Amino acid sequence: MSVRVAVLSGGRSSEHEVSIESARSVRGALEAEGLDVLSVLITKDGTWLLDDEPVALVPGGIGSGQIRGERGRVEDFDVVFPVLHGPYGEDGVIQGLCEAAGAPFVGAGVSASAIAMDKVLFKMLLRDAGIPSADFVAVTAPAYRADPDAIAAAADRLSYPVFCKPARLGSSVGISRVAAPEELHTAIELALVHDSKVLIEEGVVGRELEVGILGNDDDLIVSPPGEIHYDADWYDYETKYTPGLARVEIPASVEPEVEADLKALAGRAYVALECAGMGRVDFFLREDGSALMSELNTIPGFTQTSAYPSLMAAAGVEYGALVRRLVHLAQARAAQVNALKC
Ligand SMILES: Nc1ncnc2c1ncn2[C@@H]1O[C@H](COP(=O)(O)OP(=O)(O)O)[C@@H](O)[C@H]1O
Ligand SMILES: [Mg+2]
Repeated sequence: MSVRVAVLSGGRSSEHEVSIESARSVRGALEAEGLDVLSVLITKDGTWLLDDEPVALVPGGIGSGQIRGERGRVEDFDVVFPVLHGPYGEDGVIQGLCEAAGAPFVGAGVSASAIAMDKVLFKMLLRDAGIPSADFVAVTAPAYRADPDAIAAAADRLSYPVFCKPARLGSSVGISRVAAPEELHTAIELALVHDSKVLIEEGVVGRELEVGILGNDDDLIVSPPGEIHYDADWYDYETKYTPGLARVEIPASVEPEVEADLKALAGRAYVALECAGMGRVDFFLREDGSALMSELNTIPGFTQTSAYPSLMAAAGVEYGALVRRLVHLAQARAAQVNALKC
């Protein structure tokens, strides 16, 4: 019998529509590879739908899963493929649901997903792993409310401009480029609309590059870097999602030593986080050739033209082989995890 994959799309985050696009490509490729697909849409209010019938993921025994519908539909499957970006999808929440249900799933586990989604925790982990990233100050809502001026004073040791960001979001939503200290409070207030924790990060002058990774443990295929080109001050929401405003050049035009450096750093971060399946690691490359890691996305954009599949294609793994391999990696990881005594 062919492997049956439950593809999750949509989700509660602002990246709902992007996820639907990504999932459409993933489903098409899985079917073309001969796998059986169940297509589950998660609405913006969090309802799971299978062909319009509300369904739930239920514990179906360790190593497989089951979806049950309100109107009686029951479907068994082998692997969940969460094609969900941002909060409630990429941040460990869905991964925890799958773990609790005993269902193998594509991509990173609970802790790696949660840490990669949290820009502050991620940078702490990078610091611990000796991987360079831009200097920063982190602030929580209660600490800011208690003493806003103390936070501004702490941020004074960073050189401006700084970038002020909600700790756990994506798509550049809620991010401001802050040119001078007197603009900082407005930027923090905006970020606090989206998250109770905020990252204030020193601005980096440099090119933006990204590397794709496929694999479990340290058995990894690491792609050559690609470079994002755009005509704007920074890679904001509009530039990301307006067709024609940005493009990715693959492979990036960089010196061989820079390429080797980026690939090695990306692999080290992936292993340090204990990622699984896939990841896209983003960097700033400064004029002097030194790299600063920016973020690691555990469920990167996955349309036919998205950066991640294009990077993996440049590494010799075409789209169809990529999704098939990810399903296999999910099963391999689940078998490994389930063999452990807990
Ligand atoms: N420290 C920084 N220095 C320079 N540009 C930055 C910095 N942080 C963010 N940016 C700009 O903002 C964009 C989005 O920031 P990022 O941290 O990648 O958030 P997101 O998770 O929303 O993609 C980056 O691609 C970059 O253009
Ligand atoms: Mg980014």
